[in-house]
Amino acid sequence: MLKTLLGSVREYKRDSLLAPFFVMCEGIAEVIIPLLMARLIDYGIDRGDMNQIWKYGLLLLAVAIFSMVCGSLAAICAARASAGFAHNLRRDMYHRVQDFSFANIDKFSTASLVTRMTTDVTRVQNAYQMIIRMAVRSPILLVFGLGMAFYINARLAPVFLIVIPFLIIGLYFILTRAFPLFTRVFQTYDDLNAVVQENVRGVRVVKSYVREDYENRKFNKVSDLVYTLFLKAERLISLNGPLMQLCMYSCMLLFSWFGARMIVSGSLTTGELTSMLSYVMQILMNLMMVSMILVMLVMSKASGERIAEVLNEESTLHNPAQPVSEVPDGSIDFEHVDFSYSGDPNRLSLHGVDLHIRSGETIGILGGTGSAKSTLVSLIPRLYDATAGTVKVGGRDVRDYDLTALRDAVSVVLQKNVLFSGTIKENLRWGDADASDEELERVCRLAQADEFIRAFPDGYDTYIEQGGANVSGGQKQRLCIARALLKKPKILILDDSTSAVDTATDAKIRRAFRDEIPDTTKLIVAQRISSIQDADRILVLDDGGVAAIGTHEELLASSPIYQEIYEFQTRGGDGDADHQ
Ligand SMILES: Nc1ncnc2c1ncn2[C@@H]1O[C@H](COP(=O)(O)OP(=O)(O)OP(=O)(O)O)[C@@H](O)[C@H]1O
Ligand SMILES: [Mg+2]
Repeated sequence: MLKTLLGSVREYKRDSLLAPFFVMCEGIAEVIIPLLMARLIDYGIDRGDMNQIWKYGLLLLAVAIFSMVCGSLAAICAARASAGFAHNLRRDMYHRVQDFSFANIDKFSTASLVTRMTTDVTRVQNAYQMIIRMAVRSPILLVFGLGMAFYINARLAPVFLIVIPFLIIGLYFILTRAFPLFTRVFQTYDDLNAVVQENVRGVRVVKSYVREDYENRKFNKVSDLVYTLFLKAERLISLNGPLMQLCMYSCMLLFSWFGARMIVSGSLTTGELTSMLSYVMQILMNLMMVSMILVMLVMSKASGERIAEVLNEESTLHNPAQPVSEVPDGSIDFEHVDFSYSGDPNRLSLHGVDLHIRSGETIGILGGTGSAKSTLVSLIPRLYDATAGTVKVGGRDVRDYDLTALRDAVSVVLQKNVLFSGTIKENLRWGDADASDEELERVCRLAQADEFIRAFPDGYDTYIEQGGANVSGGQKQRLCIARALLKKPKILILDDSTSAVDTATDAKIRRAFRDEIPDTTKLIVAQRISSIQDADRILVLDDGGVAAIGTHEELLASSPIYQEIYEFQTRGGDGDADHQ
């Protein structure tokens, strides 16, 4: 994990090394200061020697300034290194996620990916900053401080050896109890994030089902848990302060007690005692710092692992070694295709599909919910790879093609289609970044979108809010169809893409397709028979398998499932079927 994460430090390596270096210089200066103070008092003030006072005074000033400059430089370097590291981590994760296949994304879930890219990275950033500043400084100061104390007076210094074990035991007691609480707090944060994300994304549904109270309660529950756990953990951590003070004052008392006696007997000077007392502070503070760093390390470990998991995730789709970059035509063949989302051959979503579609054919796809219509079409542009068997486009296995070339040739309007915030033009140009305005208008006329776009005050420059919130369901669908058409695909797949469009407009779209893009293979998944009955052939899916395929008339004569759907939709059903 560490290797993966540190791989993202890159250009910030210099800062990451300079920060501890400056911190070390600062630390050394801090250790020297009490020693100089002792000299100043003993050689200068006690003896009333002005020359010595000047000498040590100026030296002290120089060391203090040096320490200050090193401190600031260390802070700047550490901030730059940690912010840069976090920046790289986020960018690397983002790039990784762009390469993810649908299967990879299914594995992580969107909410978790967002948490990993935000909260977890921030946590690692903070830990990194603390570590490069303190992990070097504190142990060094601790050892130096102790060394200096022994150097000044080896008979007095062992007092530390009595007090320090007490402090270590106390800190151990506090931290081992606080640590599991912090771990739980962070786990609960994930739940909190999930609740907030789900609610905010689905806020319209929440409101329309008047579920605000329920959602509030759900949120309060998680939020209260975070609060309680945090409070408990912080309460424990706050014991650190009194513990430190207790140890510090005991140390000082002991030093004063023994020190005073030694001064009287002449084996210690006043200056030495003063500097010993400064070392007390330094040594105990650094000891506490070392323990806090340990805590921080362990706490950020979970976040680090979550980040590394994303960075190490291999995309399940690969471009072949020698990719074919041209799709010759729009024919589609399924040969004994099985597919399972989990990869488990015992839980197939699609089984034994054999299907041959000629280039330019219009195929209607019909079937109950969950009959694997979306699954079937998603194998064509290689959104997923078949678990067994072969899917061919233009007579070649889809796995032989360059992914970009394949997806340019196969345009899909997904069932869960999405518009992005930006103008209509910008959204459409996802299909083809270089398309001219005339081209945009042409595809919009084809998709029956031109008319309503012109009715907007800003026309094609109308701003689409996030998720397409300011256009109607049917308008959104038509914009998505236009976007797909702009690619001039050889195969066009509409997955239930006109479900929110009225039947007359639906019919106009189909007629435009027939007249304007006759050579494009069209796969139209629909719930309404009226949307597909004039297709060249209709494919009826049932429970992941092909139940029947043929023209409307053939199916009416031979397929019981088709007959049933037809009967239901024309007679009593939704009255939606219109015959043109
Ligand atoms: N991302 C996924 N991960 C796991 N299972 C899935 C996933 N998507 C769909 N499934 C399962 O695969 C089966 C077929 O689903 P699919 O979405 O293809 O049905 P559909 O015919 O398109 O249904 P609908 O008419 O409701 O769109 C279902 O049992 C569904 O639970
Ligand atoms: Mg579907």
